[in-house]
Amino acid sequence: MTDLSFSVERRPDPVSDERRAEILANPGFGLHFTDHMVSATWTKDGGWHDGRVTPYGPIQLMPSAAVLHYAQEIFEGMKAYRHEDGSVWTFRPEANAARMARSARRLALPELSEADFIGSLKALLEVDKAWVPPADGGEASLYLRPFMYASEAFLGVRPANEVTYSVIASPAGPYFAGGLKPVTLWISQDYARAGAGGTGNAKCGGNYASSLAGQLEGIENGCDQAVFLDSATHENIEELGGMNLFFLTKGGELVTPELSGSILEGITRSSILELAKDLDLTPVERTVPIQEWKDGVASGDIVEIFACGTAAVVTPVGELRWQGGTAPGVGGPEGGEVTRTIRSRLLDIQYGRAEDTRGWLTQLA
Ligand code: PLP
Ligand code: COI
Repeated sequence: MTDLSFSVERRPDPVSDERRAEILANPGFGLHFTDHMVSATWTKDGGWHDGRVTPYGPIQLMPSAAVLHYAQEIFEGMKAYRHEDGSVWTFRPEANAARMARSARRLALPELSEADFIGSLKALLEVDKAWVPPADGGEASLYLRPFMYASEAFLGVRPANEVTYSVIASPAGPYFAGGLKPVTLWISQDYARAGAGGTGNAKCGGNYASSLAGQLEGIENGCDQAVFLDSATHENIEELGGMNLFFLTKGGELVTPELSGSILEGITRSSILELAKDLDLTPVERTVPIQEWKDGVASGDIVEIFACGTAAVVTPVGELRWQGGTAPGVGGPEGGEVTRTIRSRLLDIQYGRAEDTRGWLTQLA
């Protein structure tokens, strides 16, 4: 169902072609933003309305806006890829739309229909298509960030009666500067990112806020990222602050922690579970004790480990550290062969270099 159409107010002073080319040549991650943004407003009485494309810029919020106090906010993360013929595509947007609707229900926010969600991406790409990096065989893309927040100015604790939805976009290179160099992980033993009955399986800002202390502890201990464990027993692996985890066993099982209710159901994760079958691997979703990681790399039962997500694609995982110990990395200095194969299969589909046999791509522009 479509509720929204989008009016367009173009920026009078867009970034010059030269400056944009300079940014696209070396985008980093999340540092630069396109000329425009999309927004829409929801009110309890009026539903979704006032879809608009406007110049990218500061938003006006009252200091009493509920999101600033009670964190009633959700977001999505996806990418637009330029294909060889210049067209622009995104990957499984129906899955992001469905996840955003699930997150909305959990955070007592209004749902946006799949048609309006995809329509909002198309509306932004129509004016900012030039910001999608060229198809040059690299892995640059335009990262899309849809988000929704309680914009009502009201300090009582209840679901907001006015909500704003927006999409911004940011040209993106690799999330980790080191390329395929394996990331070192820190076991966050005391800090969980989410718990049973909480919001761990929703993509809401609060989960990321609660991951930061563990992440900081990891960085202080020389690691790139923290691994979060289940909050009840602190024994089972959940995920990283912004990525899911996979383990390849020597018997050809591709194991990932099962969806416990507090893990985010990554779209990369579910795509890899599908692709595993093409590679004659057995996809397995089950409880994975952190002890199994430590033992498995020592015994040789675990032969590769990688993290995955939209921003990071597929990133090899190396050493594991914790208070008082370390476990060595497996798979070599550029990740194991299966890790690299899965990574390139995924990228080849996303960039239109391999046939999209599962209908995962949607054209945006
Ligand atoms: N887990 C968390 C906590 C995340 O933030 C993300 C990133 O979106 C993922 C997993 C991977 O999800 P996806 O593959 O849909 O990007
Ligand atoms: C993503 O992969 O899209 C994420 O959201 C991870 C991080 C940038 C928050």
